[in-house]
Amino acid sequence: MATILVLWCLLAASVGCTLAADCPASRLHLTEAPYQNYFLSDCITSSHVIVTSPDANTNNSNAKPRLLVAWPAGNSGAAAYFEAENNETLGLHLESSTTDGEVLETVNEPAPDGAKNENARVGVKGLIRFNTPALLTLPILGSIRSIRDYSEGGGILSPDVQNAVVTEKFGSDGGQFYRTWFDGVTTTWIDFTPASGAEAVQIITGDKWKLRFGTGTYAFRATFNYPQSDQLSASEVLNNASQGLVKESVELITSLSFLSYSNKLLAGSWRFLTYFGRDSMLSALLMQNILSQGEGGALEAIIGAVIERINNTDGTVCHEENLGDYASFLARQKGIDSSAPACDYKMVDTDFLLPVLMRDYFINTDTGRSRAAPFLTKKATFLEENAGVAYCELAQRTAEKIMNTTAPFVSSHVASNLIHLKDGESVGEWRDSGSGLGGGRIPYDVNTALVPAGLRAIATLSQAGIFPDHPEWADTADKYAQVWEDETLRFFEVSVSQSDAQQLVEQYVSDAALAGPPNTDQITGNITFYSLALGGVNNKPVRVMNTDDCFRHFLLNTTDQDQLSLFLDQTADHILQNFPVGLSTDVGLFVANPAYAGDKSISDQFKNSDYHGTVVWSWQLAMMAAGLGRQLARCDADGAPDFCNTDLRSKARDAYKALWDKIDKNRAQLSGEVWSWEYNNGYQPVPLSAFSTTESDIIQLWSLTFLAVHEEDV
Ligand SMILES: *[C@@H]1O[C@H](CO)[C@@H](O)[C@H](O)[C@H]1NC(C)=O
Ligand SMILES: *[C@@H]1O[C@H](CO)[C@@H](O)[C@H](O)[C@H]1NC(C)=O
Ligand SMILES: *[C@@H]1O[C@H](CO)[C@@H](O)[C@H](O)[C@H]1NC(C)=O
Ligand SMILES: *[C@@H]1O[C@H](CO)[C@@H](O)[C@H](O)[C@H]1NC(C)=O
Ligand SMILES: *[C@@H]1O[C@H](CO)[C@@H](O)[C@H](O)[C@H]1NC(C)=O
Ligand SMILES: *[C@@H]1O[C@H](CO)[C@@H](O)[C@H](O)[C@H]1NC(C)=O
Ligand SMILES: *[C@@H]1O[C@H](CO)[C@@H](O)[C@H](O)[C@H]1NC(C)=O
Repeated sequence: MATILVLWCLLAASVGCTLAADCPASRLHLTEAPYQNYFLSDCITSSHVIVTSPDANTNNSNAKPRLLVAWPAGNSGAAAYFEAENNETLGLHLESSTTDGEVLETVNEPAPDGAKNENARVGVKGLIRFNTPALLTLPILGSIRSIRDYSEGGGILSPDVQNAVVTEKFGSDGGQFYRTWFDGVTTTWIDFTPASGAEAVQIITGDKWKLRFGTGTYAFRATFNYPQSDQLSASEVLNNASQGLVKESVELITSLSFLSYSNKLLAGSWRFLTYFGRDSMLSALLMQNILSQGEGGALEAIIGAVIERINNTDGTVCHEENLGDYASFLARQKGIDSSAPACDYKMVDTDFLLPVLMRDYFINTDTGRSRAAPFLTKKATFLEENAGVAYCELAQRTAEKIMNTTAPFVSSHVASNLIHLKDGESVGEWRDSGSGLGGGRIPYDVNTALVPAGLRAIATLSQAGIFPDHPEWADTADKYAQVWEDETLRFFEVSVSQSDAQQLVEQYVSDAALAGPPNTDQITGNITFYSLALGGVNNKPVRVMNTDDCFRHFLLNTTDQDQLSLFLDQTADHILQNFPVGLSTDVGLFVANPAYAGDKSISDQFKNSDYHGTVVWSWQLAMMAAGLGRQLARCDADGAPDFCNTDLRSKARDAYKALWDKIDKNRAQLSGEVWSWEYNNGYQPVPLSAFSTTESDIIQLWSLTFLAVHEEDV
């Protein structure tokens, strides 16, 4: 077990041993120009180092010369922004260290005797080379959130954070920055020393203190003394049947292990290096056939992390945790001196995923069934306000919330009884950028898929006695589910006549100055799809075609046959028709196509520079593939749906195959979070960061799901 390994390693380190084979370092190098990404994990610490070196080929004015170190522990990090001293283009890169030929090594120093903070000072060291004299003009030390606020928040810097940075000489010819966190005990350091005869580091004083480097190579160390988490190794994150992947898919499994810890899985790196409820549960649902089960396994880490963070008053599942320096920062803004972790509860989709995941594990697997009692009687420890509350009680609170909030629609099928974004919030589900829902308030995915799936799962869990206070749910939750399955889709349905569709697409191609072909010859009848959301501007549906059909295909075995056939038929069309008629391009399915909105103010919110615009998200491809696979597999099971005996079955198969062709063509991008495109003799993949200050994470938990999702023989 990893817990034992960690203790053993700390003991070994303190008596001066180097790491033995029990604790091998795992490394990964991923390039996405102008970013070089290096990952290093061992049982001491885990680090992700990103070096940004823009050059003449970089079509990205947002990318500045930068050394960034991100640590899963405390969602923390250190960023150093550089400028050339003179007019040159500054190039920087890491060099192999002379000691073992690797680029990065772990730093591990026990705390000095009597130190206020007893945690070891850990991190990474390496060599960085500058091709011209350079100035380190801005260090950001502490939380990843502070670094993100700067890099994608238009340069936001908090004076409270920045004024606490200390600049000092380091040794005889080096320099360092460090900052003690708001907790008063944790410190983040970044230090530089000349190597291979480079000039001494100079400290340039003034309004903002800078470090100056000559052309040449410098040794750097980025370190912190925060408690470390217990990482799941490549082997520990997988179930027995999937151990072969450790050798077959080294890169993907190393990425998965980097994001996996015994108490939670993290959403991605470097930008989302912490708990996110939706990301971890959707990943678990897509990867359940490969993740380790049982105590200490990945599935229980995910479910436990979610339950620990439930709001025990109203049952809401936590979207994102804030911990470490950022938790203190937020508390200080409310005048509170605390570094206790806290949660963001603004999402309206995440609650529904918990019962689905619980059913899939505690009811549908042998190990899960045997683990239900010991796991669900555990007492929460993570949030102060939940301390001592049993897991089953917390999970029941969420189920209660779901039953309460879904009841009104069952009594009266009107749009006002559908699930809305919370008042005052502009986001609430996975398209969580300001314009992700095009201004809509009643999201399609939540209402037509997540709600009924959550209700079905509550019924099954209740039938198994998991919610002993509510035996009635065994029956009522199924009744509610039937209504939400059958009665919600029609609110979102859009049908555009052939001639209108042609006109709308032509107008869009012109408004958006689209370089690619209009493909209007592929409009051979009405175009049907489901609005991204209701309740947009002037209370209108947001008529944006989208990939969110995947939720219903993946999560539900719906039974209204006519509805299912029509639904499957239009999904197949969108995959078989090329953008901007459908969603298909050579770089994958766009998650949104605003061509039919007939409104430039809408289509302007869904460009190829928008996080949820005409761009491709890997996990949406995975869920669409898994979802279509599940619907087609129903044809081979008892009670096959009606479409199985019609031409629709082969059309759906064609769409499924076409989708897999796209997935296979984009293997190079699949483990990234999201990608954009340029049109150059066809659609070519381009990093989103080429058009946006939002850098896509180079590894993202839910983009690793192709480890488990494969093309099936359907
Ligand atoms: C940069 O953009 C230009 C013009 O769009 C293009 O020709 C070139 O290939 C791009 N370079 C890279 C590295 O993407
Ligand atoms: C700096 O760049 C500008 C514009 O490229 C150029 O005109 C100028 O000569 C350069 N100055 C130095 C000192 O290289
Ligand atoms: C997985 O393998 C381990 C070690 O071989 C064994 O102890 C354990 O019982 C296996 N678990 C399952 C669920 O087969
Ligand atoms: C938990 O829910 C209650 C009721 O909605 C709310 O008042 C409280 O602020 C929530 N707790 C947190 C920490 O957000
Ligand atoms: C659900 O509704 C019941 C009855 O109104 C109420 O007592 C309970 O607190 C509600 N639970 C949640 C989690 O909203
Ligand atoms: C085609 O769309 C038009 C306009 O929305 C609608 O009136 C008509 O019923 C649709 N026809 C079919 C076959 O769905
Ligand atoms: C859907 O039906 C299949 C059998 O066709 C079954 O294996 C699966 O568990 C069902 N899924 C749900 C969510 O009910």
